[in-house]
Amino acid sequence: MNHPKWVNNKELINWVEETAALVKPDHIEWVDGSQEENDRLCQLLVDSGTFIKLNEKKRPGSFAAFSDPSDVARVEDRTYICSKRKSDAGPTNNWVDPNEMKNNLKKMYDGCMKGRTMYVIPFSMGPLGSSISHIGVEITDSAYVVVNMRIMTRMGKQVMDVLGSEGEYVKCLHSVGAPLQKGEKDVPWPCNKEKYIVHFPEERSIMSYGSGYGGNALLGKKCFALRIASTMAREEGWLAEHMLILGVESPDGKKNYVAAAFPSACGKTNFAMMIPPKSFEGWKISTIGDDIAWIKKGKDSRLYAINPESGYFGVAPGTNYKSNPNAMATIEKNTIFTNCALTEDGDVWWEGMTKEPPANLTSWQEEKFDPTSGKAAAHPNARFTAPAAQCPSVDPKWEDPVGVPISAFIFGGRRSTAVPLVYQSSNWNTGIYLAATMGSEMTAAAAGTLGKVRRDPFAMLPFLGYHMADYFNHWLQIGRELPDPPRIFGVNWFRTDENGKFIWPGFGENVRVLKWIIGRVRGQASAVESPLGRMPRHQDIDWTGLEDFTEEDFHSLMTINREIWKDEVLGHEELFSKLYDRLPKEFLFLRELLRSRLWRSPEHWGLAPERF
Ligand code: OXD
Ligand code: MN
Repeated sequence: MNHPKWVNNKELINWVEETAALVKPDHIEWVDGSQEENDRLCQLLVDSGTFIKLNEKKRPGSFAAFSDPSDVARVEDRTYICSKRKSDAGPTNNWVDPNEMKNNLKKMYDGCMKGRTMYVIPFSMGPLGSSISHIGVEITDSAYVVVNMRIMTRMGKQVMDVLGSEGEYVKCLHSVGAPLQKGEKDVPWPCNKEKYIVHFPEERSIMSYGSGYGGNALLGKKCFALRIASTMAREEGWLAEHMLILGVESPDGKKNYVAAAFPSACGKTNFAMMIPPKSFEGWKISTIGDDIAWIKKGKDSRLYAINPESGYFGVAPGTNYKSNPNAMATIEKNTIFTNCALTEDGDVWWEGMTKEPPANLTSWQEEKFDPTSGKAAAHPNARFTAPAAQCPSVDPKWEDPVGVPISAFIFGGRRSTAVPLVYQSSNWNTGIYLAATMGSEMTAAAAGTLGKVRRDPFAMLPFLGYHMADYFNHWLQIGRELPDPPRIFGVNWFRTDENGKFIWPGFGENVRVLKWIIGRVRGQASAVESPLGRMPRHQDIDWTGLEDFTEEDFHSLMTINREIWKDEVLGHEELFSKLYDRLPKEFLFLRELLRSRLWRSPEHWGLAPERF
């Protein structure tokens, strides 16, 4: 088998040969990452009907794709952590014995690339050559995956130069699971009804079968940068987290970086690219990443973070020039849109982009869109894939191999009642408890789940490659090794009033909360003690430009309702009993501490009685 001159890693060449012998592709292509190669593959995708070239005047260099209706999102129930021992995957992951899984998968992979090209993509998660970065190689039979990976990761020949002849890499094998018989015409979105997204943490390898969509197929993202990397991080003493990273610069030019974890569908990309309101002149928010953070201890014993990705795979619906002008600017060119609607002049549209849909849309299911049908024009999980470098708010250090120092961790969820707008944990351990017990109300309208709180510790529930309680212990241990650990905060943008309307305006106004957080980090902002930790009083938040948001409104965001928290603590217990065998014993005492603090009457706290 021929491989290009720039490939000299014997072990990799062997793996590619072995894989080819199993999957039996018609051709093999080593992906070099060049512009010519990308242009050729995009044209191939246009010719095969997967891509539609968008209007070059309106969206230069951009394409739209429509997936098969059965392949539109991550498939958590088909996602497996196949560690040798079931107990190491823990009760929150699907598990199958790795040998059994491999035998089963081997049968499915046998001949699965017949009639197709097998692409070999060397890629780096993180800036090339950074000591925090790691290399992967994805083998895939999807040209759509190749061109998306070119945006989402640093990929191609340059990566092989870093890997060298002996370097280690994570093996990522992907197939859409749709071999072509001789003469059979391909469909625009090949995939298989049966899907498997499988991780072998001890081997640091991934096998994905049957889906061509997002996190199921772009294996650098959730599979490598979170599930496999979280197991690597635990072994090696670092952190791989489902966190955005942003910079906050105050008018005096001082800058801090924070990392924030939110479950899916909580507006992470909006927060990472926020533009402060006019009244906050001089405050600047800059973006390092919108989804994943890799964090390591630096020589100065501070935590440094990089964004392992080089693009955004963002949810399109709801994105507009008001909610996220920076994202809208980012996707003006060189962007791949998946499952968005098409306008008659060759552009894209989705629900929430403008108030009214333009006339004569083609829906993501490639039908003429009827706005009275009650159906959406774009799929709710429609996505854009866009280069991070195109984001106007991208931070000058976003590719710094050293990473940026983290001053605070923020944990948030979608909670209509219990959780206040913002509070600070008293110390590292109570902060870890806060993050471990965080939850989010489900937005999916699956029967009986709407509005239910799903406990999603650290927003990592679907993304952790090992036992969740071991992960809690790992975070506690990280804190023990830091002389001055980052401060930890809880936030909630989603409290509603009695009519179910959001109380907090959110978006750019979240900078008011960030200002208080940065003030706490710098020792400048005041707070009072509360049962949950430290909280701002009304006078501790800067309200300039938002004067019609009353003190009463603020209190309605900050109340700690004892009855609601009774249930909340029961929810913590439910999670703990699931994880009890490996749960940090500190947590039981922290839970009791929280309970006893909640039951102290208001006069024991610096809070106004109406906030209790
Ligand atoms: C994502 C997710 O797509 O968290 O980033 O689901
Ligand atoms: Mn995510």
